[in-house]
Amino acid sequence: MKVEVVSKKLETAKVDAIVFFVSKEEKVLRENIRKIDEILGGLISTFKKSLKFTPEEGKFLVVPTGGKLKAGFVILTGLGESKKVDKDTFRRVSAYTVRKSKENKLSKIMMDINLTFEKLSPEDVASSVTEGAILGNYSFDKYLSKKEKEEVEVLEINLNLKDKTSVKEAVKVATILAEAQNFTRDLVNEPANVINTVEFAKIAEDLANKYGFEIKVYDEKQIEEMGMGAYLAVAKGSENPPRFIHITYRPRHPKGEYAIVGKGLMFDSGGLNIKTGDFMRWMKIDKSGACAVLGILKAIGELKPDVMVHGIVAAAENMPSGKAYRPDDILKAKNGKTIEIGNTDAEGRLTLADALCYASELKPDAIIDMATLTGACVVALGEFTAGVMGNNQRLINEILSISQNTGEWMWQLPFNDKLREQIKAPHADLYNVGTTRYGGAITAGLFLEDFVDPRIPWVHIDIAGPSHHTSGWYYHPKGATGIPVRTIVNFLLKRSR
Ligand code: BES
Ligand code: MG
Ligand code: ZN
Repeated sequence: MKVEVVSKKLETAKVDAIVFFVSKEEKVLRENIRKIDEILGGLISTFKKSLKFTPEEGKFLVVPTGGKLKAGFVILTGLGESKKVDKDTFRRVSAYTVRKSKENKLSKIMMDINLTFEKLSPEDVASSVTEGAILGNYSFDKYLSKKEKEEVEVLEINLNLKDKTSVKEAVKVATILAEAQNFTRDLVNEPANVINTVEFAKIAEDLANKYGFEIKVYDEKQIEEMGMGAYLAVAKGSENPPRFIHITYRPRHPKGEYAIVGKGLMFDSGGLNIKTGDFMRWMKIDKSGACAVLGILKAIGELKPDVMVHGIVAAAENMPSGKAYRPDDILKAKNGKTIEIGNTDAEGRLTLADALCYASELKPDAIIDMATLTGACVVALGEFTAGVMGNNQRLINEILSISQNTGEWMWQLPFNDKLREQIKAPHADLYNVGTTRYGGAITAGLFLEDFVDPRIPWVHIDIAGPSHHTSGWYYHPKGATGIPVRTIVNFLLKRSR
């Protein structure tokens, strides 16, 4: 979708539809809509009355112009109560409007954002409608012989402002962010018979070549030489060999250095502790963290901020076989710590253990990992909220605060020493599962903490819930969501200022 910022006369705008956002308090049509209504001979007012249109969020009034305007339709999109309107409201209603337009085969639409909201700048509104439109326009339909709907190809954002430089810049950044998120969605949505470990490494290499990043891809032998015994064990059961990927973005004058680590299980069958029935369904999404790493780097390659970024993925597939690792096995991670296996389905933390050791050795200013780590996190917070943990409250607060702006819901889960007792193993330094299932998201986070250099601020984001959704929500269509790409890129942008 192409997004442009324009200042056009609504009367002569050549688009398929002109969209006005209306809040619940607007009992009468505001001035610019009234003008259009007059041209249409009062059709908007008539429709509004006869169809009993109330501008609740997500409600529409679609009025055909019958040739009285250059535009084919006028659409009023409800915003709901004006005091509740924030950036995410605009992302949502923009996505809904795009979907409505798709249904009506409108391929070029104009959103009029000549509005005033106390807490929102024109840049906020413009970037939010851009993100919502691009995210809402997404669908994963490459395997359908027949596409369901036409795409919206052009979005014009209409704003009567002389100097549109900063609004244009905001729209440019929003476009890059939303497209990076869609790129992540595309990768996550691919099944494991298409994207396996080797293929994932190839995609990472293509991305690195495209943006001029450095890249190292380690094969199974090199992974062994690096002493990554935990990661290697997880990968052993699969025909697809592990690939450890390290991409580096190195700007000329970096203001800091950050390691972004993503859980990269191309598929999680559970291994010998095989998942039953429906629990195995959707486990292609167990690479969501890794795909977010690539999406983040794509945005970084386009935005070129002044921070050094390491993208790190320990790609593997968790499968049962005669070569698979077993319960009771004792493994040794890169930092020398030993791990006793309680359950082979708690594999993500093992791959991350070695990836976090590797990241720590780079001595970055902070490490952020993203992982579809535990079902327990989904039980604790619901499907829509990611769990945030870590060793540094300031960094946690920073991520949480950014997530409030991006609409990627996150909530902190508390570490404590009583839960830490649960990952003490009978015969090794650590157990890969807690002795009870209570606090399972936290015991997983505590396990990871053992592999991070305590001097480095680290945040762990458990995205098991919001990484995907079977039916979709808000501006997320069904399948992968691409969370938390926008939050992390915004964090890196903030640190580069
Ligand atoms: N990949 C799963 C976690 C998951 C569950 C992600 C649901 C997305 C949706 C992870 O590897 C896993 O299997 N975790 C186990 C841990 C348990 C064995 C301690 C779980 O959550 O059941
Ligand atoms: Mg598992
Ligand atoms: Zn997993």
